[in-house]
Amino acid sequence: MTAKQAIQGTPDTTAIGPKDNFGPAEVRQTKAADLPAILQLHRRAFGPGRFALTAYRIREGTPPISQFCRVSERDGTLIAAVRMTEIEVGGTGGALLLGPLAVEPQYVNKGYGRQLIASSLAAAREKGLQLVILVGNSSYYGKFGFVPVPRDQIVFPGPVDPGRILAFELAPGAIARFHGPIRAIRTDQPDK
Ligand SMILES: CC(C)(COP(=O)(O)OP(=O)(O)OC[C@H]1O[C@@H](n2cnc3c(N)ncnc32)[C@H](O)[C@@H]1OP(=O)(O)O)[C@@H](O)C(=O)NCCC(=O)NCCS
Repeated sequence: MTAKQAIQGTPDTTAIGPKDNFGPAEVRQTKAADLPAILQLHRRAFGPGRFALTAYRIREGTPPISQFCRVSERDGTLIAAVRMTEIEVGGTGGALLLGPLAVEPQYVNKGYGRQLIASSLAAAREKGLQLVILVGNSSYYGKFGFVPVPRDQIVFPGPVDPGRILAFELAPGAIARFHGPIRAIRTDQPDK
C-alpha cells in the first residue's frame, strides 16, 4: 500500500506505525495541557524565525487548539504535534490549514510525522470537511497526496512561495471550490 492509499483509506492510523525500534506512539487529540510542551517542541524544531511566516499570520488570534489537532506521545512524553486551524477561502468553509507539524529532532524520519498527518486527515474526513491546505515542502507532503494549488487561486495575507501552497482533497474536486482570500474561522473552542 502506498502512503497516499494508507492515508485515504485507513482511518485507524495505528496501522501506519513508525518504522523503527522505538515502538509505536500513541496519537490522540491535543488538549490545553499539551500547549507548553508543544511550544517547546516548536522552539526546538523551528527556532525563532517561525513567527515571521505568513501562515502564522493566518493563525494569529485564533484558539490554539481545534478538534483536528493531534499529538504523539511515547511513554507519556509528547514527541510530535500537528495543529489544524479551521479556515475559509473566499467565504467558503469546510477547510483546514495544516501546520505547524513538528517532530522532536531525535525522532525524525521514523514515521511519526506520517502517523500524525494520517490521523488529522482521518478526523477531518470523518467530520465531512473538504480540503486541507498548507504551506510546505512538496517533496514531503506530496508523499501523502498533497498537490500544488493553482497559482493565485488562494490569496494569503503576506508573501508565500506559490509552489509551496499545497492542498489535500478530502472530497473529489474540492480544490476547484476554494478561491480567494484565506482566513481563519475564529469561533473554534479549545478542549479543556
Ligand atoms: C518535516 C517533519 C515534520 C517530518 O516528520 P517525520 O516524522 O520526520 O517524517 P516521516 O518519518 O513521517 O517521513 C515520511 C516520509 O517523508 C520523508 N521525509 C522526512 N522528512 C522529509 C523532508 N524534510 N523532506 C522530504 N521528505 C522527507 C521520509 O524519508 C519518509 O519517506 P518514505 O515514506 O519514503 O520512507 C520532521 O522532520 C520535522 O519536524 N522537521 C522539523 C520541522 C519542520 O521542518 N516541519 C515542516 C513542516 S511545517
